[in-house]
Amino acid sequence: MKTVFINGSPKKRFSASAYFLFLQRLFTGGQTVTEKLRTPADHSRILEQLRGADAVVFCLPLYVDGIPSHVLRFMEEMEAFCRQNGLHLNVYCIANNGFIEGRQNEPLMQIFEHFCARSGLTWSGGVGIGGGVMLNVTRILFVVNIGLLALNTLLSVINTGSFFPQEAWISFAENAALLLYFNLGVLYYMIRMGCHIRKGTFSGKKYTRILIPSFVFIIFADIFFIIISLFEGGLFRGWLAKKPYEKI
Ligand SMILES: Cc1cc2nc3c(=O)[nH]c(=O)nc-3n(C[C@H](O)[C@H](O)[C@H](O)COP(=O)(O)O)c2cc1C
Repeated sequence: MKTVFINGSPKKRFSASAYFLFLQRLFTGGQTVTEKLRTPADHSRILEQLRGADAVVFCLPLYVDGIPSHVLRFMEEMEAFCRQNGLHLNVYCIANNGFIEGRQNEPLMQIFEHFCARSGLTWSGGVGIGGGVMLNVTRILFVVNIGLLALNTLLSVINTGSFFPQEAWISFAENAALLLYFNLGVLYYMIRMGCHIRKGTFSGKKYTRILIPSFVFIIFADIFFIIISLFEGGLFRGWLAKKPYEKI
């Protein structure tokens, strides 16, 4: 069984889509191929991978309640390619968005459903994930957590000769459990969808989110975007900054 994973985020590195794609691959098994879709130069390479594949999994961000335009362009080409070559793949989708409700991905899922109907492909369902940016940050925090544990262990060996600094391990376990908890909804639906991909069956449309209360999410999101805005030219992403005058 061959499954092609397509990362539809335009970001070169650290995209939330790459994180969810990594998790879904863990739970899928069989032969898997991962492709990045960023520019039209990627189209022919990805289309060739679709020959002989059983399933394709799109992992992509929600843009303005829909599909990013560069992915739409690819889908237009894919529609013609699948018709010409008589491909009947199962299509799955993992969409993530910045706001907290995963259900905001519903219009995107419907677009995929219609795309499959037009292309002669089998719409097999997807997972819509809210709070994608924040979930992506949890993986970075996990790596930082491991780094701190390693540092504490090194200091403990130097100072006391002990390879097992108890307090550091307890703190690591607590933090790791918390980060795991935030991701539980995502993990559950990905394990579930992995079973369906393996069996080639319909997994339904499922929506989940980072498992924190909305009011906590809003506070952290506000702090995050104020900091990002300051780095990117002033408050509100530079909206208040003076713009150079453009002659038309
Ligand atoms: C142009 C643009 C439009 C976006 N539109 C939405 C939106 O309509 N709703 C939403 O919740 N998030 C929206 N977002 C946020 C992204 O969906 C979010 O940052 C996502 O986690 C990015 O995924 P990636 O890291 O895989 O690219 C938008 C982001 C951009 C850059």
